[in-house]
Amino acid sequence: MARKRLALKDPGRFSDPAGLTWERYVAMQARERERYMAERAAIPQDALNYKTVSPHYLERAVDQFANNYYSELSATHYVATAAANAPFDELKKCALFQLADEQRHLEMDREVFERAGIPERDRLAAWEAPGTTCRFFRHLLELEDTIEILVKGNFVAEGAAGPGTFTVLADGAEARGDVLSAVNHRARIRDETRHISYGRALVKALIDDDPGNLDTIQEWQDESLRLFAEVARGGERRAWWEGFLASYYKIALPLGLRPSF
Ligand SMILES: [Fe+2]
Ligand SMILES: [Fe+2]
Repeated sequence: MARKRLALKDPGRFSDPAGLTWERYVAMQARERERYMAERAAIPQDALNYKTVSPHYLERAVDQFANNYYSELSATHYVATAAANAPFDELKKCALFQLADEQRHLEMDREVFERAGIPERDRLAAWEAPGTTCRFFRHLLELEDTIEILVKGNFVAEGAAGPGTFTVLADGAEARGDVLSAVNHRARIRDETRHISYGRALVKALIDDDPGNLDTIQEWQDESLRLFAEVARGGERRAWWEGFLASYYKIALPLGLRPSF
């Protein structure tokens, strides 16, 4: 069955909420980089090399590391597809800046794996284990349509996962002595917030363009959240799941979408 496609008849309805130009983007990321390097430089060597966390922490944290790293790795692929197939320039520009952001995030998360001494074979196994967000991201990687990718990836998934989740993750890691993860999570919050806001602007433009688009967006939301629901199964991550849904519904319901469950 062919996938449904949405188009923005009037592309003028969408504009980058961050108002970025290449020049502004580069200047902003240079400042962010400087701040990140300063925070990272302040981490004592032992903490940076995971000598101060408990072995028990590392055993349990592998799943979280995999969820961070592989979702960022996936993002560098699906956002590149979104940029390549973008139907108009303003959307292409947003996707290209996001691609550069996700590449930085990916590198930060790779460093965590390396410094924590997690062997490569354990990384993928942790990602493919039941109860991760792997199913959702593999679905995104199969898509080719820019609008579907950005609605599902930025509006639904990032809208649900950030920025609240990253604050919780940062605080949790720091409390257990994992300062590098904490610094990394805090460094990506502003980028993820920007990805959500242009995803939201795109959804808003689609609905303003044609209120009939809401039905397809609802289907994409339902499909995405069903793929995520697996993570909550077993009850272990109940609190995470509740927060995830709540943060997504906060942006989705005002636009006329309904809860999926
Ligand atoms: Fe990211
Ligand atoms: Fe992102």
